[in-house]
Amino acid sequence: MTGKTPRRSIESLRSQRWFAVDDMRAFSHRQRFQQIGFNREEFMDRPVIAILNTWSDMSPCHAHLRERAEAIKRGIYRKGGFPVEIPVISVGEIVVKPSTMLYRNFLAMEAEEALRCHPIDGAVLLGGCDKSTPGLLMGAFSMDLPVIYCPAGPMSNGQWRGEKAGAGTHTKKFWEERRAGRVSDAEWIELETSMTRSFGTCNTIGTASTMTGIAEALGMTLPGASSIPAADAAHPRMAARCGERIVDMVLEDMKPSTFITRGSFLNAMAVWMALGGSTNAAIHMIAMAGRRGIDISLGDMAEVAAKVPVLTNVYPIGSNLMQDFYFAGGMQALMRKMGEALDGTQMTVNGATIAENCAGAPCSDDDMIRDFDSPVVPLAKGRTLVVLKGNLAPDGCVIKPSACQPTSSETYWPGAGV
Ligand code: FES
Repeated sequence: MTGKTPRRSIESLRSQRWFAVDDMRAFSHRQRFQQIGFNREEFMDRPVIAILNTWSDMSPCHAHLRERAEAIKRGIYRKGGFPVEIPVISVGEIVVKPSTMLYRNFLAMEAEEALRCHPIDGAVLLGGCDKSTPGLLMGAFSMDLPVIYCPAGPMSNGQWRGEKAGAGTHTKKFWEERRAGRVSDAEWIELETSMTRSFGTCNTIGTASTMTGIAEALGMTLPGASSIPAADAAHPRMAARCGERIVDMVLEDMKPSTFITRGSFLNAMAVWMALGGSTNAAIHMIAMAGRRGIDISLGDMAEVAAKVPVLTNVYPIGSNLMQDFYFAGGMQALMRKMGEALDGTQMTVNGATIAENCAGAPCSDDDMIRDFDSPVVPLAKGRTLVVLKGNLAPDGCVIKPSACQPTSSETYWPGAGV
């Protein structure tokens, strides 16, 4: 699609309504950008690209995002765009009380209105901690400008006394050990510095990795972007590519409404199941699809969950971390292995289809990224998602049988496989 797609004229860009008009307000817009040190030719007659940045000192998962914004700007300049960085609320899961869930919609509204009220032609969305991905995408889907998602990336592997230790899941495990008297006071303090060794999102398949994986499966990230570790040199390179690509997307007028379909959401569901992802995704998927005017249901999710087993050998279901997943081939290898479980014709932000992007994606570890005939958890023993209905939840609720520990009789959660 890139290269062959008709490109719109600069005169037709939205930002021209702020800068190119011969009236008093446009005079002020031009004047005020020069007030902060830009020359006229730096912002006139160019696509204006926003970087919506969820950086905050209160969000360790996003601690590197100011540097990543600079990498994105490099890419935008390189392609002839004019970058503007706009801070939006950072909903750091680990620090915010009582719950970041109260702020997801706040972020969605803020993202949408920040795009609407400013002279912006397209945007790179910079986030990754649990609620940031759905919040940013919900706002962007409502506003419907060309956007690309730049995921923050998972933190580096943790280690404690020779064992892999990830964030989140392992905290709960070690807390249980401490309560049982098997972790001493000194060890507990040592653990604080052992498990979370770099900036970046939680490195198990919790909500953050689930949602960034879903963003990639929807087609909203560059291929492979969601599994690149935050501290890897490939991460700023990917960020710079986001900056380059968004300028072309603006000129191609490639908005979410032109390529995000119900099929994109069904693909995202399938990837969620293959990841063994978080049940929280059910809430976020319905909200994101709603912003695109697409109806999806718990029934759709249950149907996909019945067909796609857990293929990703990463905690909490498996025994590795996101960095290991990346080195094994990451999301593109997983999507290639999913084959016909995905609709390969769905389009993505780079102007190629899902199938075109992942064709030939190498996998260097078939135990880490499994094939359908050797899943981490067979469908008969536990799915990523089961939907239940009853007097306690008349409209339905979700459980994740595949994450339950086998009992001594080797059965899983009673709902498994139902
Ligand atoms: Fe931010 Fe887990 S606390 S991703």
